Amino acid sequence: VSERSVVHAGAEVLVASNRGPVSYALGEDGALTAKRGGGGLVSGLSAIGQSTRGAKRLHEGRGSGDGRADAVWVCAALGEGDREAARRTGGALDPADTGGQRVRMLDIPSHVHADAYNGIANSVLWFVHHMLYQTPLEPVFDAEFRRQWGAYEAYNHAFAQALADEAGRDAAVLVQDYHLALVPGMLRALRPDLKIAHFSHTPWAPPEYFRMLPDGIAEQLLRGMTGADQLGFLTHRWADAFSACCAEVLGGTGGTRLGVYGLGADAGFLRERSRRADVDERLAALREQIGTGPDGTARRSIVRVDRTELSKNIVRGLLAYRELLVDRPEWRERVVHVAFAYPSRQDLAVYREYTAEVGRLAEEINAEFGTAGWQPVVLHVKDDFARSLAAYRLADVALVNPIRDGMNLVAKEIPVVSEEGCALVLSREAGAHEELGSAALTVNPYDVGGTARALHEALTMKAGERAERTERLAAAATALPPARWFLDQLAALREG
Ligand code: F6P
Repeated sequence: VSERSVVHAGAEVLVASNRGPVSYALGEDGALTAKRGGGGLVSGLSAIGQSTRGAKRLHEGRGSGDGRADAVWVCAALGEGDREAARRTGGALDPADTGGQRVRMLDIPSHVHADAYNGIANSVLWFVHHMLYQTPLEPVFDAEFRRQWGAYEAYNHAFAQALADEAGRDAAVLVQDYHLALVPGMLRALRPDLKIAHFSHTPWAPPEYFRMLPDGIAEQLLRGMTGADQLGFLTHRWADAFSACCAEVLGGTGGTRLGVYGLGADAGFLRERSRRADVDERLAALREQIGTGPDGTARRSIVRVDRTELSKNIVRGLLAYRELLVDRPEWRERVVHVAFAYPSRQDLAVYREYTAEVGRLAEEINAEFGTAGWQPVVLHVKDDFARSLAAYRLADVALVNPIRDGMNLVAKEIPVVSEEGCALVLSREAGAHEELGSAALTVNPYDVGGTARALHEALTMKAGERAERTERLAAAATALPPARWFLDQLAALREG
């Protein structure tokens, strides 16, 4: 990984994540088109402008003259468009593309990034933390794994070096996620003056699962993370699992502070965005597609919106819906499962296979039960945020049934946006369950029969109860807005 020139010297607050707040598409004519990103991480960190003003208020006198402390977001170039943008700008992206945010995009060689991101982060660490290995043949930690691990180290080192270059004296650095677990330790060695935090957006595996990693690797990961002053998790469950891993592997967490910072829905943004004309248009089209039942009233909807991600458990959700149609034939013609499953990590064969399986099963259900006027499953796979919001608005029932999930923001967003109130069928294994469980219908994500029964209960819930539960869900879902999530961590890091 080549040395980079220093573009923004002396930032006070730095954020580091694999995926940045913007991505670029490269046209055939060589033109670059910037697209601002979404997702939990992006919405949380989009509070950075506000947070740096907050940081200034907290630490009077440290900000720059315009009232904003200097903040830089360091991220990786992820595709050809990103790489081209990073090359053309020397890594310092045009603020016109980033909503004014200073972003440094690292042009890490593509084979190094692929081995670190696809090989280690998404095929090993993601699988460990979500406990996704399901066959006796996986995982295998062999020479190929060791080679990829070398790339993961190099990729983490490129971030640590860039952060060390960019950070002003005593700056606060907030490192994100399992992609960058080694960065805190590496950065500490380069810049002992910095305040360093790491935040895990995923679950954390219990020691008996985590320790399937080779001993030296498990130790290196935990030492890398405990190089931080402060480690953040989405729930107590994940923080406790991390502590337990440290106790077994390292004998403790050293002097590192552990904190729990829940991330909630951005109510103001969602309510405003979901009322715009593009969402209205898609809502009308969806209503048309869902249609009316035999009695002439609008059919009920069971909505899910996910990346097509193994941990989201979309296939068992479809199986539960099929079981509902078998066990409760009275729902035939009267309900539609609106399933949005957007492409994710398609470089990995197992994700491509899972995506195909979701499509196959949806078709099978439609072939088995569908009639001339009724399509039981409406599956959309093209990512469209406005259409997702339209589905949130019309949801009667929201289905969120992950095998394991750090938080799950969809579970929090739907009750905020839904027009008529919705019943939430929620996996007990989602981090969001800690906050929403008492107002949701809880399911064991592996129990397809139990999920089918919960769907029936959700569909038959009386209007009054549904309204009351939706109100409680929305209140819990918005109690921890992204800006607060960010500011609380920054304040704790500064003051700790
Ligand atoms: O922590 C999980 C996470 O990084 C989320 O922030 C995000 O929703 C998701 O994974 C995206 O994954 P990817 O960047 O691999 O598409």
